[in-house]
Amino acid sequence: MKPVEKLSLLFAASEAAPFAKEGGLGDVVGALPKYLARLGHDVRVVIPRYYSVNLEKYGLRLLPGTLVVPMGIIGHMYCGVYEGRLPGCDVAIYFLEHEQFYGRASLYQEDGQGYLDNDNRFVFLSKAALELCKMLDFHPDVIHAHDWHTAIIPALLDTTYLHDRYVGDAASLLTLHNMQHQGNYYPGLMEVLGIGWKHFNYLDLEKDDQVNLLKGGIKHATLLNTVSEGYASEIQTAEYGWGLEDVVRERASDLYGILNGVDYDEWNPAKDPFIAKQYSDRTVKSGKAACKKDLQQQLGLPVRDDVPLFGVVSRMVKQKGTDIIAEAIHRILAMDVQFVMVGNGEPWAHFYFGDIAAAYPDKFACYIGYNEALAHKVEAGADFFVMPSSFEPCGLNQMYSLAYGTPPVVRATGGLDDSVENFDEDALTGDGLKFHQLTATALFDTIGWAAYTFYNNPAGMKALRKNGMKKRFTWEEAALKYEALYRLAIRRRRGEEYFRNRFGE
Ligand code: ADP
Ligand code: GLC
Repeated sequence: MKPVEKLSLLFAASEAAPFAKEGGLGDVVGALPKYLARLGHDVRVVIPRYYSVNLEKYGLRLLPGTLVVPMGIIGHMYCGVYEGRLPGCDVAIYFLEHEQFYGRASLYQEDGQGYLDNDNRFVFLSKAALELCKMLDFHPDVIHAHDWHTAIIPALLDTTYLHDRYVGDAASLLTLHNMQHQGNYYPGLMEVLGIGWKHFNYLDLEKDDQVNLLKGGIKHATLLNTVSEGYASEIQTAEYGWGLEDVVRERASDLYGILNGVDYDEWNPAKDPFIAKQYSDRTVKSGKAACKKDLQQQLGLPVRDDVPLFGVVSRMVKQKGTDIIAEAIHRILAMDVQFVMVGNGEPWAHFYFGDIAAAYPDKFACYIGYNEALAHKVEAGADFFVMPSSFEPCGLNQMYSLAYGTPPVVRATGGLDDSVENFDEDALTGDGLKFHQLTATALFDTIGWAAYTFYNNPAGMKALRKNGMKKRFTWEEAALKYEALYRLAIRRRRGEEYFRNRFGE
C-alpha cells in the first residue's frame, strides 16, 4: 500500500467533547480528529478554556509562553495555552486561557441570553488559533473551521495572514453544522477584525448592514461542507438558508455533504455503563425491557411493559420541534402511552413541560437539564425516540437510537431523512417512522402509527429494532471523506504543481 502522505490539520472550534459540549458540534470535534489521526495525519485541536474544562481531571498542562493576539482597534490581547490529549488517542488539544472572555459558567449564554461580547470572544478564538501555530511551530496544510464561531478564519487567511510564515498558504475547510446562527454584528466589528473596510460590502462580509461572520466564511473558505448530503441541498433554498441561500448557491460546486459518524465506543448498548442491562441484537427484547423498567423507575412513571414509551433527548428549541411537541402533547397523552423528555433550552418550555408532568403524572415525565447518564437510559429504555425537527443538519440522537434498537420517529429533513429509512409494514424493511409536514397533526399521526405498531404488530416491532441495530454510521468512513476534501482544498490553495510534487498525483 502506498504510504500515507501525512497531512497537518488544525481544528478550530468552540466546543469539543468531553471537555466542553452543548450539542453535536462538541461530539464531532471530539471524535473526528481521533479517526483522522488513525489514518496517519497530524491533527491538533484548539478550543477556549471555559470554566467547565476541568484542568485536574484531564491533566492539562500550561505551556510556557503567552500568545499575543492582535485584536484591531482593541489592541493586542494576551492568553495562556493549556495542552492536553483527546481521550483514548494521541491528538493534542489546546485550550485558550483568557479569564475575561472564557472564565464563565456557560459556553455561549446565560438565562437564554447570549453573552454580549460573543463577537469579540469568538473573533479572539479565531485569531488566537492562527497565532497558536507560531507558538507551536506548526505549519497546517488545512485549517478546519466549524460554524460561525471560527468562520472568520478563511477571511483572515485571505487578508492579514496571507503572507504569514506559518499559515499563509494553509487551505481552509468550513463545516456548516447549523445555518441558523451566523454571528451577525454591528459594522464596528470590522475595526476589531482589522482586515480593512473594503471587505464590508455585499459581495463579502456585509449582510443587511451588519458584519456576518458566517457569510465571510462561506465566501472565503477554500471548500465547504455540511454534515449530511440532504442539508447541503436544503441550505440552497429560502426555507433552510436563513437568508444566506444565495451566497451558498454561488459556492454550490465547492460544497459537499458528509454525514457525521457515531462514536460506537460511547454509544453501544452492549458496552454502555449507564444502562440497567447491556444488550445486543440477539438479546434486544429482554435487554430493552430491563432498561425500560429502570427508566420508568428513575423518572417516577408507573412500571408497565404493556405501554409504548416515547423518549426525547434534545435542546428545547424550535429547531428540534419542541413547539410542535408542545402543541401535540395533550392529544398524544390521550392515548395509552408514556412520554419522557430530557433537555433544556428556551425557558417557556421548562415551565410548559413541567406543567404537563404535573397534569399527567402517570404518563409524562421530564428532566430539565443536561444529563449524560439519563440520555443513555432514554436511548435504551424508550420504545421509540422522537425527533420532529424543523431542520436538522445531521442529528446524532436518531443514529444513537438506531444503534439501541429504539426506532426513531422523525420529520424527514436533512440528516434525519438521510439516516432513517421509513418502515414498510409489508416488506418489514425500514428502521424508523417518518413524516414530512412540520405540524402537530403529522407528529401526532406518526406517534399514533408507532403506538399501533407496538400494540398490534410484534413482527413489525422486531424488524424495526433489528434493522436499526444493523445499521452503521462510522467515523472511519466519514474520516476518509474528509481526507479527500482536505487534499482537494490543498490543491486549490497551493496549486496543481505543488500538489503533484507533494502527492505525486
Ligand atoms: P444538536 O447539536 O443540534 O443539539 P445533535 O443531535 O447533533 O443535535 O447532538 C445533540 C447531542 O447533545 C447528543 O450527543 C445528545 O445526546 C446531547 N444532548 C442534548 N441534550 C442533552 C441533555 N439534556 N442531556 C444530555 N445530553 C444531551
Ligand atoms: C449541529 C446540528 C446537528 C448536528 C450537529 C453536529 O448542532 O444542529 O444536526 O448533528 O451540529 O454536526
